[in-house]
Amino acid sequence: MIPLIIDTDPGVDDAFALALALASPEVDLRAVTTVFGNVPLASTTDNALRLLELCGRPDVPVAAGADRPLVHPHPHRARYAHGSDGLSGRASTLPTPSRAPAEVDAVTLMTEVLTAAEQPVTIAAVGPLTNVALLLAAHPSVRSKIGRLVVMGGGLDVGNVTATSEFNIWSDPEAARRVLVEEDLPTVVVPLDLTLRCGVDLDWLAALDAASQVGSALVGLTADYQRYYQRMGWQGTVLHDAVAVAEAVSPGLLTSTSYPVDVDCTTGPARGALLADRRSALISTESGVDQRRRVDIALDADLDRVRA
Ligand code: BDR
Ligand code: CA
Repeated sequence: MIPLIIDTDPGVDDAFALALALASPEVDLRAVTTVFGNVPLASTTDNALRLLELCGRPDVPVAAGADRPLVHPHPHRARYAHGSDGLSGRASTLPTPSRAPAEVDAVTLMTEVLTAAEQPVTIAAVGPLTNVALLLAAHPSVRSKIGRLVVMGGGLDVGNVTATSEFNIWSDPEAARRVLVEEDLPTVVVPLDLTLRCGVDLDWLAALDAASQVGSALVGLTADYQRYYQRMGWQGTVLHDAVAVAEAVSPGLLTSTSYPVDVDCTTGPARGALLADRRSALISTESGVDQRRRVDIALDADLDRVRA
């Protein structure tokens, strides 16, 4: 079993990602750490506690992390997609948490789990990368315990917050640059280019609704989120974070290619863009940019397998 930490900002698709990890015997979910993002930190933390309660796993420790980006505070939240409370206005329909979050913060909990782990741990980061950046800055020695970092973020040919930028990277580009460009961890990035192709339709949602109480509760959380995707012409929904967690659960499920990457941390129109150099190796070598950090980017998959 792969030990797993999920760093998250629930978020409707984060909810599905958590449930997927808990339903997967391949992984042992050792901690959930929360970060600001789709909604403020207090809500993402409360949502995580409620979701673990729903899934019958109130034993998984939850710790709250960063409530703002590293450098440039910004007021933007994704309520337009995830609803007022991050769960389509349905958070209060989930079980009331039977406990408070851990007294330690996210970075401390991640450090404790990593230090105690008997084998390399996968971290699935499906929100802004602030907690992971702080972890690596404050506790560099834990790097050797991180087997894999799987990140939902970026869009090479498409953005969702701006024309160039995806929400998680755009929410804290300085943290993303620190983690994706300045570090050297084995990393897989799962961008919008692939997650948008993995959308699930109304039949998929109906089947999950009928499958179990947990499935039905999850489908109930998609109301506002479905409306957001309907406005874009998709009847169903898109579970970005669950696609990334599927790769954490089943390494190699997604097909990845290694590219030199950078993150735009300027305050211009491309702020928060994930840049991957997809030119031929020869051209990028001649221009010298292949000196940049290379990261695996998942751009393809057997889509039916991902949905299953
Ligand atoms: C990402 O942004 C959030 O709104 C989702 O939860 C996902 O992590 C998609 O861009
Ligand atoms: Ca998320």
